[in-house]
Amino acid sequence: MEKRELLYEGKAKKLFTTDDQNLLISEFKDDLTAFNGAKKSSEAGKGALNNKISTELFKLIESKGVPTHFVGMLDDNHMLHKRVDVILIEVIVRNIATGSLSKNLGIEDGKVLPFTLVEFDYKNDELGDPKLNDQHALILGLVDYQDELDKIRRMARQVNDILKPYFAEKGLNLVDFKLEFGKDKEGNIILADEISPDNCRFWDMETGEKMDKDRFRQGLGGLKVAYEEVLNRILGAK
Ligand code: TYD
Repeated sequence: MEKRELLYEGKAKKLFTTDDQNLLISEFKDDLTAFNGAKKSSEAGKGALNNKISTELFKLIESKGVPTHFVGMLDDNHMLHKRVDVILIEVIVRNIATGSLSKNLGIEDGKVLPFTLVEFDYKNDELGDPKLNDQHALILGLVDYQDELDKIRRMARQVNDILKPYFAEKGLNLVDFKLEFGKDKEGNIILADEISPDNCRFWDMETGEKMDKDRFRQGLGGLKVAYEEVLNRILGAK
């Protein structure tokens, strides 16, 4: 399967059409952005690492019964996946307080939450991705029915129930992550986008070291080494 037209260029990926109208190719870029694009950089090899990590995680999630857009990894930087209508909701799942949750609500950084929190942000850069409640999402027409929001929340929890113990076995705490969903051509809600250290937080269980994009957000350095370590741990215990 080959790339045809560039459909869209996002911050971390380019999206291409293919000869099959139901399939698209994502090219994982080396670009790094944070704070809604205000901080920018690039790290050679980052795109390939995210492609490989996402591939393994989509396969795992799919094997546990959660439908995803993943079809196959084509080469280091390219993933073939189903075409979906993206639902403009960023679904944030949190096991441990940090980042904006700690900042906005004054919850101590690193506090284990009494239960897994699932939040919705409106995927809208111009507005700075504001928080949404269910009524906002329905009023904006981001989905048609409350049932769809319930389903998205249920699927996000299922993904957490798969990934949290999986990473714990590899010595990593899955602190929080962001998911995106879309509707396939039959109208089914499926998991889309990517699952990588760009949109997850992983903390090493022994050292507490951050193994994710916070290394860039916080200017800690060593981003690529951390992403490589995440991939190695994923591949190590297969
Ligand atoms: P959050 O603490 O809300 O944001 P910030 O990066 O501003 O501290 O992030 C929670 C998790 O969701 C974290 O793993 C990063 C991920 N995330 C994204 O991938 N994209 C986003 O636009 C946001 C807001 C979060």
